[in-house]
Amino acid sequence: MINDDSHIYVIFGASGDLTKRKLVPALYSLYVQDLLPEKFALLGVSRSDFTDMDFRSGMKKAINAFKEIDDTSHIDSFIQKIHYQSIQFNDASTYHPLRQRMEILRTDEEICGNTLFYLSTPPSLYGIIPQHLASVGLNSQEDGWKRLIIEKPFGYDLESAMILKNQLLKDWQEEQLFRIDHYLGKETVQNLLVTRFSNGIFEPLWNRNYIHHVEITSAESIGVEKRGGYYDTSGALRDMVQNHLLQVAAITAMESPSSLEPVAIRNEILKVFQSLRPIKKEDVKTNTIRGQYLASTIKSETIAGYRQEEGVDPKSVTETYAAIKFYIDNWRWGGVPFYIRTGKRLPTRVTEVVIHFKPTPHFLFTSGSLSSSCNQLVIRIQPDEGMLMKFGMKTPGAGFDVQNVNMDFHYSDLTHQRIPSAYERLIYDSMKGDSTLFARTEEVIEAWKFLSPVIECWKDEKDVPLYGYPAGTWGPETADDLIEDKSITWRYPCKNLSDDGIYCEL
Ligand SMILES: NC(=O)c1ccc[n+]([C@@H]2O[C@H](COP(=O)([O-])OP(=O)(O)OC[C@H]3O[C@@H](n4cnc5c(N)ncnc54)[C@H](OP(=O)(O)O)[C@@H]3O)[C@@H](O)[C@H]2O)c1
Repeated sequence: MINDDSHIYVIFGASGDLTKRKLVPALYSLYVQDLLPEKFALLGVSRSDFTDMDFRSGMKKAINAFKEIDDTSHIDSFIQKIHYQSIQFNDASTYHPLRQRMEILRTDEEICGNTLFYLSTPPSLYGIIPQHLASVGLNSQEDGWKRLIIEKPFGYDLESAMILKNQLLKDWQEEQLFRIDHYLGKETVQNLLVTRFSNGIFEPLWNRNYIHHVEITSAESIGVEKRGGYYDTSGALRDMVQNHLLQVAAITAMESPSSLEPVAIRNEILKVFQSLRPIKKEDVKTNTIRGQYLASTIKSETIAGYRQEEGVDPKSVTETYAAIKFYIDNWRWGGVPFYIRTGKRLPTRVTEVVIHFKPTPHFLFTSGSLSSSCNQLVIRIQPDEGMLMKFGMKTPGAGFDVQNVNMDFHYSDLTHQRIPSAYERLIYDSMKGDSTLFARTEEVIEAWKFLSPVIECWKDEKDVPLYGYPAGTWGPETADDLIEDKSITWRYPCKNLSDDGIYCEL
């Protein structure tokens, strides 16, 4: 392998939304921080017919519009590194001129054979592009590393994911594949690992002996915006649960890795996926809830229902809300329910993990507002990133009234350093060949396997209801029924980490 970090960064789907909103602004930010190699070229590839100058000017606008970093003084020198090549993705013959173009770039810019190919096209092309690249030898690592970054979704169900896996592994090695899950690039998700394994106080409690249940919420207040056409073929289960939220659950539940080597961390994550208790078809009805938002009025504004959104089938049965209860069958978690819920048009935008601890064995203090299971650790992924511990405290005065109080830490207090975006972090790691924060093939396949019965039942069986919920509420009321213990409800988080309650400030 050539000991040189120079490389060409090739983006397929370069005329698209993701390239301009996330990828190029993130690359510019790395450039400003001097984190790109000195010898570096970015080659945008799409069907659209642009000259280098057209494409550069579009990317300049994008960097200014979707600012990742305040310093814009280096944009003109950065865009000199950007080039463009038009191809027809499905036409093998156009990969020869692509290869020639890359060879010219290498010679002109003195770049070795290292190449990153980023697939930011419609998912239907994730199999064919790598196959065509291999047909012209662009998967060969003889003259330098070749890596493929693959956007989500990786397949539409278990069958299509298996087909894609086999297509990719025919010409590429597993270590060349970087499946992006931008949740794993978030500082606060990585901090879950650090919180758990850099502190002695959490691990002894982090198990079935002390934890009653684990709740993971990812709520969005917006609807499907302009993505109705795409979303209607996907839905909340595929869009959020299959990838992001099961990954967050796995990091919450994993054993301590033996080291920080990518393989050690990924092995532990995979074991969690392998320990997910399969949901039997007959249990889908009791272990899952699906919903779809209905028109409503929020703060005097009329909000369209999902079926009225642009690009959505007026008879659509695609879920915009999904909640699921499951178990992880191992010694640490045996019998502890995990609850995941996600939805669009919920009251606020929030993602968090809540560890609910078991109540004390003997409930001594019966006066005051304390509930029997008061201890919660809230790990906030976004917004107001941080951690919150809830515990019981004596209310000052006579007697022994006890109330719930909060102890909170806000991530923003930790440092004045800027927090890199998930894409910036993941792009940088992929350049360094660090696959820790990328999903491995087996993880993705296990996640599809686990959700297959749910997908099947939601598609086929008429007796798994699709509940409507008014936009701006916390989803179908019946979602509370998922939680076995009737004295417990979902947490109703607010924008501010320290607040909760169904009527709190959003
Ligand atoms: N946008 C996001 O925030 C986001 C977030 C997470 C994941 N993703 C994933 O990232 C990928 C790219 O997202 P995007 O929003 O940038 O997609 P996009 O704008 O719809 O498409 C990217 C580019 O692919 C080409 N393309 C579109 N339809 C095509 C077709 N039928 N056949 C061949 N080429 C086609 C277009 O370029 P030409 O017409 O010039 O060829 C387009 O500019 C998608 O798979 C998406 O699921 C996106």
